[in-house]
Amino acid sequence: MALLRTVTAAALWGSVVSKALVTSVSRTIILDEIPFYLPAEPVLQLPSLINIDTGILPFTVLPPLGRGESIQALRDNWTAVDDVFNDGFLQAVLFQGPLSMLSQSTVSFLHEQDVTILTNNATSSLSVPTLHLPGLDSLAPGPYVLAPDATGKSAVYTPLRLHFDPSQSFFKSAARKSDGSFNVVSASLDTDSSPYIGVPSRIRDLNAKGPLAGVRVSVKDIYYLKGIAASAGNRAFYTTYGIRNVTGPAISRLVDLGAHIVGTTKTVQFANGDRATADWVDYHASFCPRADGNREPSGSSTGAGTSISTLDWLDISIGTDTGGSIRGPASSNGVYGIRPSVGAISLDDVVPLSPIMDTGGYMTRSPKLFSKFGKEWYAETFKTFPSFPKILLMSTDFDGVSRPAMTVYNDFVGKLQQFLGGNASGVSVTRDFSIPSLWNQTSGVGIPVQTFVNETYPTLIAFYQWTNVGKPLFDDYAALNGGRNPHINPQVKFRWEFGESQGLDGYNAELAKRETFENWTMSHFSRVRRVFICTREPTITHALLLGAQWDTRSINAGTYSSRETYFSGSPSIPFGFSSGRASSLARVPEVVVPIGQIPFNSTISGIEEQLPVSISLVASRNCDFMLLDLVDKLADAGIVRDVKTGRTAF
Ligand SMILES: *[C@@H]1O[C@H](CO)[C@@H](O)[C@H](O)[C@H]1NC(C)=O
Ligand SMILES: *[C@@H]1O[C@H](CO)[C@@H](O)[C@H](O)[C@H]1NC(C)=O
Ligand SMILES: *[C@@H]1O[C@H](CO)[C@@H](O)[C@H](O)[C@H]1NC(C)=O
Ligand SMILES: *[C@@H]1O[C@H](CO)[C@@H](O)[C@H](O)[C@H]1NC(C)=O
Ligand SMILES: *[C@@H]1O[C@H](CO)[C@@H](O)[C@H](O)[C@H]1NC(C)=O
Ligand SMILES: *[C@@H]1O[C@H](CO)[C@@H](O)[C@H](O)[C@H]1NC(C)=O
Ligand SMILES: *[C@@H]1O[C@H](CO)[C@@H](O)[C@H](O)[C@H]1NC(C)=O
Ligand SMILES: *[C@@H]1O[C@H](CO)[C@@H](O)[C@H](O)[C@H]1NC(C)=O
Repeated sequence: MALLRTVTAAALWGSVVSKALVTSVSRTIILDEIPFYLPAEPVLQLPSLINIDTGILPFTVLPPLGRGESIQALRDNWTAVDDVFNDGFLQAVLFQGPLSMLSQSTVSFLHEQDVTILTNNATSSLSVPTLHLPGLDSLAPGPYVLAPDATGKSAVYTPLRLHFDPSQSFFKSAARKSDGSFNVVSASLDTDSSPYIGVPSRIRDLNAKGPLAGVRVSVKDIYYLKGIAASAGNRAFYTTYGIRNVTGPAISRLVDLGAHIVGTTKTVQFANGDRATADWVDYHASFCPRADGNREPSGSSTGAGTSISTLDWLDISIGTDTGGSIRGPASSNGVYGIRPSVGAISLDDVVPLSPIMDTGGYMTRSPKLFSKFGKEWYAETFKTFPSFPKILLMSTDFDGVSRPAMTVYNDFVGKLQQFLGGNASGVSVTRDFSIPSLWNQTSGVGIPVQTFVNETYPTLIAFYQWTNVGKPLFDDYAALNGGRNPHINPQVKFRWEFGESQGLDGYNAELAKRETFENWTMSHFSRVRRVFICTREPTITHALLLGAQWDTRSINAGTYSSRETYFSGSPSIPFGFSSGRASSLARVPEVVVPIGQIPFNSTISGIEEQLPVSISLVASRNCDFMLLDLVDKLADAGIVRDVKTGRTAF
């Protein structure tokens, strides 16, 4: 029989002058060696204390079992689909159907396993132990725990399974309360530096209606959740602003669609530009599990990337992407990632970097879920798309790619071309497509694009964030700390100083340059190359830009960048232009798709490891659903597939 080994309790004390009052109790329990968390808030309060020997009783509510259905088969199914339910919860059961309908094999099971039957009334014709518990009939099928509440009466709790976070991806574990706000899940268990993460049973979602019912989601620690504090990767920000009083619309929408928010993940400070070892001074960067486990995790959605590549019980990681903050981690971790068109989802109540380029995106391991999730989350912005592209433009990024990686790319591009209709139907592949060269020929600006937009991205992010986040933080922190300045990571501080030095005039000049670039992509490409416009005319074809890198480190193409590297010299301003920068400036969607892996010899592990190879697909503005559908159909065709957690993606 199941063993309830340890019970620990944490209490919040109310402030009553004469005597302290326990207002809330949350507990960590260990059932058959597996840790669970009982939130402070019960799902059901009973009128009195039920006297049971153990004080705490795990139990299961079972749905009506149809003819031929047995408790054993249901147990096997639930054990397979859910990481919360286990045999420990079968020491007591409540049947939603009449006991008289139970099959002989179920009755035998109850006898053999010494199961206690819970009933709403005192009578049971079965000769098994019975506990009378009025009021339990409102509970949906799944695992529960009966335990005393803060007032000393019995109550029913929905246990959260506690999972270790080996890649240190999370800042905190969170669970939603009945009033819609969030609570921190704070387990009392031995852990190195990351919290244990509590997840709800998947059983209660098996028959739920929401399109994202039961999807478990981690959230980058720059999205505000009502009831818990956000750090944005900065300790001063965390203590200055404290508990948030509102959940932003992007996350509220996910909750409405049925998703479960399980916690907040680590972010590069202010979603700006820290590298793991050089710049994460305030907090420590999470770990990328791929290959030797020592690769730069990339950022800024760092914990988002490492959580989804490490934890098989997690389905989706929410991040943001301004200049590569999802594309970089998606590449580094070998998972699916999207930077959608700007405006795909509201970023109200999210720490901004540059609203004109900021996007709310996500990462996942499954191409099918990748498609389904985005089509639900962005459903109020996008409806449909005209057709799959007929023109594939391979950027000059591929010139510098290693031979093994190029083999992976050529194989994929060949299959993609076949999938889109093949050579005979006019689907073409243009190699060595160069944005700088086309800009020279067609923009009429008379200045190379690398020079024209050289300072655009750094000025837009640095001036905006300094003015709207940095300056207010300095003021608010000083007011609370005797005029002191907060500590800011060196990279962010350097960039903010650059932003401030550009001034409003400098900012406005760069805003105009960005618009010139976007206008060029919108108008010129649509006429000449039909690249960037997602037209609503179903007959017009458009092209897809394929990329092998999102920045100069070309993480996509399986090159290795170690988190051990100490970057020399002072922090840097992200000047320049690259094909990854193009989607930021033009505000178009880009997805990163893992397509293979290549070997490399690690000086750390001392053996040959595998690094993921990914490809970037850039489409026209608002063609997000085309990209998502393309990935979905490529999965159906077996051209892309699920990636695994851990050392290797495939
Ligand atoms: C569990 O049951 C559901 C429907 O009752 C079924 O769709 C699913 O495939 C089963 N899963 C396993 C692992 O048996
Ligand atoms: C007792 O409750 C069970 C369901 O838990 C029901 O099947 C049975 O009819 C009830 N008996 C009486 C006497 O109310
Ligand atoms: C949340 O707090 C802010 C800052 O204190 C305040 O301006 C705002 O009105 C509050 N919003 C809600 C919904 O309470
Ligand atoms: C079509 O296929 C032929 C032969 O395989 C190849 O030489 C040619 O480059 C292809 N054309 C395009 C547009 O891909
Ligand atoms: C663009 O034109 C400049 C001269 O204005 C030239 O130096 C540069 O090489 C050209 N770039 C490309 C990619 O053709
Ligand atoms: C971009 O600006 C930086 C700083 O002013 C400068 O060092 C660099 O040469 C510039 N690059 C181009 C291509 O203009
Ligand atoms: C970009 O295009 C819009 C719409 O045609 C126009 O209003 C705007 O002035 C253009 N901006 C620049 C910088 O050319
Ligand atoms: C790794 O080292 C072994 C032994 O020297 C060598 O045979 C192999 O080709 C190397 N692999 C790579 C990817 O360099």
